[in-house]
Amino acid sequence: MTEITLTLNGREWSGSVPEGTTLAELLREHVGLTGTKIACAEGTCGSCTVLVDGRSVLSCILLAQQAERCGVTTIEGLGDEGSLSALQRAFVEEDALQCGFCTAGQVVSATALLATTPHPTSEQVRSAMSGNLCRCGAYPGIERAVLRAAEELG
Ligand code: FES
Ligand code: FES
Repeated sequence: MTEITLTLNGREWSGSVPEGTTLAELLREHVGLTGTKIACAEGTCGSCTVLVDGRSVLSCILLAQQAERCGVTTIEGLGDEGSLSALQRAFVEEDALQCGFCTAGQVVSATALLATTPHPTSEQVRSAMSGNLCRCGAYPGIERAVLRAAEELG
């Protein structure tokens, strides 16, 4: 077992997990934060995207111990039902999902994009989000949602 301490959605979390546990597994199975989804589990779809020290990472291919002492933000840390983030609201308003399985990763990636590029062009949105696959093909709505949130955030 490996002892891990990290700051998770603003709160310190410590625990022990089996060797080889990924950050995605830690979040879902040891902390109970199931908003982060595991689809491909091999770093190709973006469903498991979270922020580590503000940068988007694929948590299915990052060992939990690599996030030791880091600040991890998941979809649950961006907002909740009572206070959605601008991006979460825009995804709802633009109907940017069907099954929703990819949505947490999409919103987290878009959050990272707007943090560094507050006024992205459509091309920049498509490029930045290209690692987040959507099997339902909700791409037009996702792009509209990111642009809408960017406008709202000014
Ligand atoms: S589940 Fe991590 S990239 Fe697909
Ligand atoms: S909304 Fe179904 S995979 Fe994207």
